[in-house]
Amino acid sequence: MALAGVHKDRRELRIHESLDELSTDLADYIAELSEASVKERGVFAIALSGGSIIGLMGKLCEAPYNKTVDWAKWYIFWADERVVAKNHVESNYKLAKDGLLSKVPIVPSHVHSINDSVSAEQAADDYGFVLRQLVKMRVVSVSGICDCPKFDLVLLGMGSDGHVASLFPKHSLLDEKDDWVTFITDSPKPPPERITFTLPVINSASNVAVVVTGESKAEAVHLTIDHVGPDRPVLPSRMVQPTEGKLVWFLDKAAASKLQSVQFCE
Ligand code: 6PG
Repeated sequence: MALAGVHKDRRELRIHESLDELSTDLADYIAELSEASVKERGVFAIALSGGSIIGLMGKLCEAPYNKTVDWAKWYIFWADERVVAKNHVESNYKLAKDGLLSKVPIVPSHVHSINDSVSAEQAADDYGFVLRQLVKMRVVSVSGICDCPKFDLVLLGMGSDGHVASLFPKHSLLDEKDDWVTFITDSPKPPPERITFTLPVINSASNVAVVVTGESKAEAVHLTIDHVGPDRPVLPSRMVQPTEGKLVWFLDKAAASKLQSVQFCE
């Protein structure tokens, strides 16, 4: 059971004692969203990130989820991807394929990875084109507020600097308002070349979950979630504010250890 389900400004915090407990809660959360989306739209359009989040989704490959989730209705995208070959150890596609997609009956043609044989700029353009096609086909919904794609779920990790997807602090990409997918060639986190969803796409999602664990993230979690002074930096993670959708933070106790605005309910 989560240590605290503190609902603040439509944000829900789920703080867990252990990674095992967090993983089970995350699997339940994703399975429930999948069921609701398939019931409502006939599909579940999910955007993944890289990093530890894929490992924390591992329970979905086990009973009961491997049998109860309607995997054939899943459409997989990436909120960010490194511009490397898809079989490269740094590829988020490879990470997800090895850790999840190869273990559950996902329909291969429903997996939309980047074109890994072009430049970062071209890969971003191509991915934006693919998204536009999938929006036209109603696989991905459209936001009622902007013409952005409205994913059923965008899953994000967060760096210790507060980056999400490949949107890094003080980077001009944070100001991108028109493109759905953009690119970076000087990522502070290697490898340097990546494509990434822009904030309008992330904030148009029906559901956003940010999954953060470990002491190294505690300061960034504090700066993101607590009310802090105007002199403190506005981290990319703090700019994740779904316009209509719901935001849930999955934290372990270490990542939540510097939070000041959380009442722990046993
Ligand atoms: C990437 C990720 C990135 C990641 C965070 C957190 O491609 O690197 O999408 O945004 O989610 O850096 O990674 P960890 O959870 O592994 O610290």
